[in-house]
Amino acid sequence: MQLFDFYALNRIQMFEGLKPQIVEIIESNSKDVQTAMQSICEVLRKEISHYDWVGFYFKNGDKRELKLGPYAGEPTDHTIIPFGKGICGQVAESNENFVVPDVQAQDNYIACSITVKSEIVVPLFKNGENVGQIDIDSNTPDPFTEADERFLEFINQEVAKIL
Ligand code: SME
Repeated sequence: MQLFDFYALNRIQMFEGLKPQIVEIIESNSKDVQTAMQSICEVLRKEISHYDWVGFYFKNGDKRELKLGPYAGEPTDHTIIPFGKGICGQVAESNENFVVPDVQAQDNYIACSITVKSEIVVPLFKNGENVGQIDIDSNTPDPFTEADERFLEFINQEVAKIL
């Protein structure tokens, strides 16, 4: 087996191993989505070495802006992000995953910390509507694979169940 395959397989196994913990958090906090999301942020940041900041943003009422929800990592000034601005604001409009291997190569990017090298944002759908997103910042360059996308889609589907 090639070394690359070995790492890819390990990554998939790590995510599969975390899924039962996520399901358990959702089931035991089904009446308190804020606590569930907070726990998920903390588990992901602790268990996944390339996840340095993990947070949820949600559409702020009827406004065309995102508001920061639960997160784990350094506090950020960017608690409100207008639609279209930064990676998060673009995902609010595109409804698609946005993987950024190198944040410095992005024009429409909102820097939260100088240590951040890469980012992934995955939209969260409730009844087919893009209501928010999970945002991961990494201090590692180009760390995200399709396995991260599938895992974060799973997380958002679980959260949507109790929203
Ligand atoms: N970098 C994001 C802003 C949010 S912070 O990463 C917490 C963006 O460009 O939308």
